[in-house]
Amino acid sequence: MSANALFAPFALKSLQLKNRIVMAPMTRSFSPNGIPGADVAAYYRRRAEGQVGLILSEGTVVERPASSNDPNIPHFYGEQALAGWQHVIDEVHAAGGKMGPQLWHMGVMKEHRSGWKPSEAFEGPSGLFKPGETTGKAMSEDDITDTIAAFGRAAADAKRLGFDCLELHGAHGYLIDQFFWAGLNQRTDGYGGDALTARSRLAVELVQEVRRQVGEEFVISLRLSQWKQQDYDVKLAHTPQEMEAWLRPLADAGVDIFHCSQRRFWEPEFEHEGSDLNFAGWVKKLTGKTTITVGSVGLSGEFLAGFAGESSEPRSIDELLRRLDRNEFDLVAVGRQLIVDPNWVEKIEQGRSDELKGYSREALSTLV
Ligand code: FNR
Repeated sequence: MSANALFAPFALKSLQLKNRIVMAPMTRSFSPNGIPGADVAAYYRRRAEGQVGLILSEGTVVERPASSNDPNIPHFYGEQALAGWQHVIDEVHAAGGKMGPQLWHMGVMKEHRSGWKPSEAFEGPSGLFKPGETTGKAMSEDDITDTIAAFGRAAADAKRLGFDCLELHGAHGYLIDQFFWAGLNQRTDGYGGDALTARSRLAVELVQEVRRQVGEEFVISLRLSQWKQQDYDVKLAHTPQEMEAWLRPLADAGVDIFHCSQRRFWEPEFEHEGSDLNFAGWVKKLTGKTTITVGSVGLSGEFLAGFAGESSEPRSIDELLRRLDRNEFDLVAVGRQLIVDPNWVEKIEQGRSDELKGYSREALSTLV
């Protein structure tokens, strides 16, 4: 099978992409004092030169005092950090690329992330956040209002600096996901409760505010995951009906793209439905919105192991293409392969499989 489907252009509102490949957002911690410098701009520019269709930045934190625990994680506020991002997007555009920042707030993970060890986090049913353990300080309504305003300001800045779209990080157990998750959201006000739709209120209000700031034409992506770093087995939606109830209000609030985070793109989301559709497949089917899939594209060996250590056979690009051809999802995000190799996309397009590089963790120590 040819890789053509991956290289078909894609257009949504003001976003025009030359192909279907998205660089997944990946924290790199190379921005001292939260300021992305020339090396970060050059790193993203190399991915644009390497023909990545859409680059999503590493998570970049919005203006809340508690939003990050690592001084090298970039900010998306303040004159110097925004000047750094201006340079990033100018470099990406000069190389013909497209890019959106991933706006992030860690929530209680700020306290826990630095001490987090995978081997500890998955011991119990709720991992790091043990049942009954009170985690973090509940946000006041003023805190919530401030947070929504901070996301709104960051969104307006993303548009002003010339970014092509933006993404909200609603996945992996960070702030937005913490609200979705009954195990952590024990609020009794209008932002909590038994129903997932009630626990989605923060996300809905964030999306509404971001939409208000950027206007109708600017594309908003929302990254979601059923899994959490703190507990791989917790699922937010157990059936397509629950998933639709969760996502419909978010789509109505203004989400254009659901970026559906999975560890492996071939894992069926609802096996009991007798369907092999993955998370992005179900979300596209239920909402009619554009979806991005992700998870172990081009990876092999030890990196396919799940959190519980179970292994999986690598899947070929052909399997991905088969799913893209049947319109299961629209776009494909690639993470670790694009950390080790800025030219991965061109190699796939040109069938230069003998030149593909294997992923290794050492790659994280430099910006290749
Ligand atoms: C990630 N991932 C991630 N996700 C996210 O939404 N925001 C982020 O800032 C990060 N940071 C991050 C750092 C590093 C070093 C890795 C490896 C991953 C998850 C990432 O976007 C992607 O979903 C996974 O890596 C799975 O894709 P691959 O690597 O299997 O193609």
